[in-house]
Amino acid sequence: DKANYRHFMAKEIHEQPEVVGHTLARYVDMATERVTMPVKLPFDFKNIQRVSITACGTASYAGFVAKYWLERLARLPVELDVASEFRYREAPLRKGDLAVFISQSGETADTLAALRYAKAQGAYTLSVVNVPTSTIARESEVVLPTLAGPEIGVASTKAFTCQLMVLASLAVAAGKARGELSDADEAKLVHSLVEIPRLMSEALTTEPHIEKLAREISKSRDVLYLGRGTSYPLALEGALKLKEISYIHAEGYAAGELKHGPIALIDEHMPVVVIAPYDKVFEKTVSNMQEVAARGGKIILMTDARGAAEATIQSLVTIVMPDMGATFAPMVYAVPVQLLAYHTAVVMGTDVDQPRNLAKSVTVE
Ligand code: M6R
Repeated sequence: DKANYRHFMAKEIHEQPEVVGHTLARYVDMATERVTMPVKLPFDFKNIQRVSITACGTASYAGFVAKYWLERLARLPVELDVASEFRYREAPLRKGDLAVFISQSGETADTLAALRYAKAQGAYTLSVVNVPTSTIARESEVVLPTLAGPEIGVASTKAFTCQLMVLASLAVAAGKARGELSDADEAKLVHSLVEIPRLMSEALTTEPHIEKLAREISKSRDVLYLGRGTSYPLALEGALKLKEISYIHAEGYAAGELKHGPIALIDEHMPVVVIAPYDKVFEKTVSNMQEVAARGGKIILMTDARGAAEATIQSLVTIVMPDMGATFAPMVYAVPVQLLAYHTAVVMGTDVDQPRNLAKSVTVE
């Protein structure tokens, strides 16, 4: 049931504050400001030396954000692979390593094969899944559920942000267990997590602005997405979302890679979406934007009020996001990224919920 929405995707984008809130409630204890895993973990994070994260598509971008979180908050080295590569590259997992799998459907063939491989290597297997009865859930040692509810649109939206919420909680739990985070650090991070649903609702108020922007984007042949730090995986996700449903060619790049190739593409016909909350690397991203502007590129900047004030660049459309700490910003910045893809596809008149050539669940290799 689409409620009053034109597409499932629109409904699912708008449901995010609620379902991310449900997921949050399962992973944090608001009263004590502690992270609580819903199941007992069969390992101690103190003894884990390496984590591998494996998934496909959007779920792999959630994993990519989690790599930044686990490395920063828990000082745990993380390897990230798409499942189709992981299953054949014979990664040398050791007994006692932690292998994490992320899947909305829990039925993705490559992710399942990767899980079976990791199990055979003696790694602990932990999966973040949205369908608790799925094969991946059944075959994993630990299941951390996302509480997104059924996701109907082929383009993943609410499953992604719920995956991020679970992975953020897991990273805080890992940091705590490894002594990298104090009680006070944990309380502060939990505070920031608790704020996320409200911030996502605020982010949804950018929609009219984004609708207008979508009319411009729909005229483009190609779109570039840039981000640094945790905004880099989000740039990849933004590009994937746009190409999936609007069929406009899009690419995501780490902002710092611009000079190493993609800058050659920049001209006045190439919109560049820059995802840049005001954080430690913001200034670096501003210099990348200057390089784009100097070549006549049109910039769409997603940032907060502080970032908007500091980025004094011509030819700029700014989507002003709520103020928030930078750590968990990807969950909130996912919203305008999804809305931009959605409204562009609506302008183009494509089949948003059932884009051509795509299946909701890729159960064959
Ligand atoms: O069900 P899964 O999370 O395992 O699916 C993984 C990908 O197939 C999925 O995220 C795909 O990339 C979506 N169409 C993205 O919008």
